[in-house]
Amino acid sequence: MNDKCLSCQTAGADLKLPDGYHPRCSRKLFGTTLPPKVPFGTPDIAGEAQKMVGRMSISGVQPKLSMTHDRRKHQLTVVESGGFYILKPPTERFESLPENENLCMCIASAYGIAVPSHGLLPLLDNRLAYLVKRFDRLEDGSKLQQEDFQQLLQTNDKYDGSYERIANIIKKYSNVSGLDLVELFERALLNYVLGNGDAHLKNFSLIKEENIGYHLSPAYDIVNSRLVLPDEREEMCLSLQGKKNRFSRKDFIKLAEHFGLNKKQSANSLDRLNDIKPVFENMIEGSFLNERLREGFLDIYKKRMGRIGD
Ligand SMILES: Nc1ncnc2c1ncn2[C@@H]1O[C@H](COP(=O)(O)OP(=O)(O)OP(=O)(O)O)[C@@H](O)[C@H]1O
Ligand SMILES: [Mg+2]
Ligand SMILES: [Zn+2]
Repeated sequence: MNDKCLSCQTAGADLKLPDGYHPRCSRKLFGTTLPPKVPFGTPDIAGEAQKMVGRMSISGVQPKLSMTHDRRKHQLTVVESGGFYILKPPTERFESLPENENLCMCIASAYGIAVPSHGLLPLLDNRLAYLVKRFDRLEDGSKLQQEDFQQLLQTNDKYDGSYERIANIIKKYSNVSGLDLVELFERALLNYVLGNGDAHLKNFSLIKEENIGYHLSPAYDIVNSRLVLPDEREEMCLSLQGKKNRFSRKDFIKLAEHFGLNKKQSANSLDRLNDIKPVFENMIEGSFLNERLREGFLDIYKKRMGRIGD
């Protein structure tokens, strides 16, 4: 049995982890003290996903399933529509993607980025899948309006964009643009230091909530792609200060200026990122990645921190 919680990845105060979860972490993600079971294994995923092709509304390149929590059966069930969760299974193509994504989301949250509840869940064959709660669904099942930045920028290519253009849309449409611009700046920093080379336009959205109006949605799809694709051409797939490679601290400071953030704000985000280094390193070391991948992850993170640190 694991000695770390499959959601928050720490042993924490409750030393007991029934079915791998702190009871409070399970309650947060599932509404129940124990996590539900997934009634199929990795080899069944392709079949489960195939049944849903063309019927399920979640896009994206990797196979994934829309699921609800059947409390009576104490399991997660695949559904065509109205799912409250997205399950991203392990794939043969990229090693340990679920463990990688859960770690990145834990790190993002520790840095103060808003993220949906998430965790790892064992499939029947004991391999771990990544599960995330949908932020565009209310408890009563109603759906919040969500537009990703490929739609907002009206382009056919999800890689045809820049952080500056995302910021311009935020300035125009967000009801809390000041907060969102700081958040976008911090996400750019984080994507860079975490080796997330696939943060394209569809991985950012605006969402409309009743009492706030339009604002940047919680973060999703943060993975260290560099770790599984060492030959990835670009460090960032959306440009920043006109480039996608060889970034320095100055590029990020200029980016913040373009966003309209003052010097104190950008210094604060950069300083916090620097101060939290030992915490991130502990999280990487204590993650569910195997030792080789943990070392690779640390290496990418430290190199990039070295380039933007003061
Ligand atoms: N927690 C969430 N709540 C609501 N919608 C989400 C959530 N996570 C992802 N989505 C939506 O589902 C889409 C696919 O999810 P995600 O980006 O994680 O999958 P992916 O297959 O890894 O994507 P990619 O094509 O970028 O590799 C996203 O573009 C987003 O619109
Ligand atoms: Mg995506
Ligand atoms: Zn936990």
